[in-house]
Amino acid sequence: MTGLDHEALSAIVTELTAAISTVDDLAGLDEVVARATAKDGPLGSLKRSLGGIADLESRKSAGRAINDALAQVTAAADARRVTLAAAARTEQLEADRLDLTEVVIEDVRVPVVRGHEHLVSQTRASLEEVFVAMGFTVTEGPEVETDWYNFEALNLPPGHPARDMYDTMYLEIGEPETVLMRTHTSPMQIHLLEAAVEADALPVHAAMAGRCYRLDTPDARHLPVFHQIEGLVIDRGITFADLAGVIETFTSAYFGPDIHSRLRPAYFPFTEPSAEFEITCTICRGDGCRTCSRTGWIELGGCGMVDPAVFEAVGIDPTEWSGFAFGFGIDRCAQMRHQIPDMRLLIENDLRFNRQF
Ligand code: DAH
Repeated sequence: MTGLDHEALSAIVTELTAAISTVDDLAGLDEVVARATAKDGPLGSLKRSLGGIADLESRKSAGRAINDALAQVTAAADARRVTLAAAARTEQLEADRLDLTEVVIEDVRVPVVRGHEHLVSQTRASLEEVFVAMGFTVTEGPEVETDWYNFEALNLPPGHPARDMYDTMYLEIGEPETVLMRTHTSPMQIHLLEAAVEADALPVHAAMAGRCYRLDTPDARHLPVFHQIEGLVIDRGITFADLAGVIETFTSAYFGPDIHSRLRPAYFPFTEPSAEFEITCTICRGDGCRTCSRTGWIELGGCGMVDPAVFEAVGIDPTEWSGFAFGFGIDRCAQMRHQIPDMRLLIENDLRFNRQF
């Protein structure tokens, strides 16, 4: 034999690349590649026949031609593999997709009811809107907190009796009782003030809403997972009168012009003085009924002037800055505004209830 049969080689390449471009799944492609590279395949046989070429140079150049042909076939196979893998993935995604229109398409007698936000989300949004209108910025923060943010920086050191107000859900992370589900939104005060000090960004006028957790048994007025909105104003020359004004403005803006607020002395470790904030009972409009124990008032939340111990925890000079904070239940607001007899209705997801709002 004097040289390579170039015609045979190009016929093999044509045959293999044609097979590669028509194969339509990855398994089929693997087979074509296996045939192309097999020792007893068409290229392999051609290679073996090279031994019969007497001239060394002709043998070498024939070997190179076969290797080039193999490289050409492999490149075609690699390109085809990319295309087939993409198609397979698209097909998989298509198969995995949930067809949420199914009911509508299959049974036109079922009326299409557009969903909407849950009452609690709507309430949160309207409360935030009221505070935005009053010049507050709205932020939110983590539901998992450390003891420092939820308690200690809020002037509730370990062993403080006021910790008993909060039936805390602890997480098994790190040392026992160091990581917890926040029991109120007040730890956001600390996050916000730390950030403001860091960025030299005082004053602060902010509202922060979100989920809170306590080991409470659900009843008509309590849920173990509930929502609060926290307010924090830190500026120069802020007084208790500013606090009372903001609470009253908010109350009438959200509940209506005939609903008012009043503050009654209370104790919270992170404010001094502290107050409980009550609003006109929305059931009897102040006349006295069973819901308000005939007082005409319903408690909504707590508030007060930020305690110097909190300023100290975050490194703010209390001779330059003063401020107030408040926090109250969003679920309770929804309950009072819509006269919902039992708070558990908010989490049962009974559509007959949810659809009313
Ligand atoms: N964090 C308190 C609670 O959940 C409510 C509260 C009271 C918030 C006084 C405040 C405040 O910001 O000043 O029981």
